[in-house]
Amino acid sequence: MMGTSPKVDLWLGGAGASVPFPLLSSGKVRDVYELDARHLLFVTSDRISAFDVVMREGVAHKGRVLTAISAWWFERTRDIVENHLVSARVEDVPGLDPSLRESLRGRVLVVRRARPSSVEWVVRGHMAGSGWKEYSRSGSICGVPLPPGLQPAARLPQPILTPTTKEAAHDVPIDEREARARVGDAFYDAAKSAALRLFGRGGEVLAREGIVLADTKFEFGECDGRVMLIDEMLTPDSSRFWDARHVVEGTSPPSWDKQILRDWLEQQPWNKEPPPPVVDPAILERVSARYLELCVKLTGQAPEGAIA
Ligand SMILES: Nc1ncnc2c1ncn2[C@@H]1O[C@H](COP(=O)(O)OP(=O)(O)OP(=O)(O)O)[C@@H](O)[C@H]1O
Ligand SMILES: [Mg+2]
Repeated sequence: MMGTSPKVDLWLGGAGASVPFPLLSSGKVRDVYELDARHLLFVTSDRISAFDVVMREGVAHKGRVLTAISAWWFERTRDIVENHLVSARVEDVPGLDPSLRESLRGRVLVVRRARPSSVEWVVRGHMAGSGWKEYSRSGSICGVPLPPGLQPAARLPQPILTPTTKEAAHDVPIDEREARARVGDAFYDAAKSAALRLFGRGGEVLAREGIVLADTKFEFGECDGRVMLIDEMLTPDSSRFWDARHVVEGTSPPSWDKQILRDWLEQQPWNKEPPPPVVDPAILERVSARYLELCVKLTGQAPEGAIA
């Protein structure tokens, strides 16, 4: 064995992948399989999307980084709320042949199956994205009033919950009344309190690494009559992470993970509809390095199965 060149085994997953379980859904990045009546298997691929379009190419290590980050937070926030993680060990997935097991190592989460609520639990600590658009029109976000004069990227007086509906295409912002009507008061109160505490914890931990958690989305479901945190957690796919050094009020700070790709795409003759352009391998490598850097900063190591 040479042992010098890094091992990079891209996993693009999707409907054609040889995973021996029923594929329940395939999102932009993750594939969800049914393990049994009470358990799902999440496989996070190396697919990357920008402007809501999935690129043809994968980003090395991305799926493993996202998996490692989610699992890391799940393990460290059980004191706040119960979550769906059962195991991140590929050995705990039954019936995989040895080569598939190595391909999936570091990309899988075995989770408890829950009944997802029809609300996405968005928490915002800074002014950005659709929140900024709504605030600049109405002075509030999802019915939460905010002081006048806030600029893009400004830190909010305190983190706020700004729920949306959960739609296949575009989620719609809703206010507290509508969210309560969808999930019931007890579920709403439990999920809101957990979401705000998780955001607080996440923001503190990331700040120590020089990263600003601008906003994030949690999902909660019902499992055995209890409120359970599900889906992914505090990853750069479900959150807006900013490099603290580049947060300037009045600007739209670059995204920690995707800015390199977005900037490059903006320079291409492309209308942001599929099919996307062929992405320059040097760009993919730089994006990959960003993900690895984030994983090491946060969890202290490269993800399992990836040789950095
Ligand atoms: N423990 C769980 N039990 C049941 N469903 C879950 C659980 N955790 C997450 N889910 C659901 O699994 C789905 C994961 O889908 P995924 O995020 O991969 O794609 P998507 O949300 O359809 O699209 P996108 O690529 O835009 O995120 C979501 O609908 C989520 O609500
Ligand atoms: Mg999703």
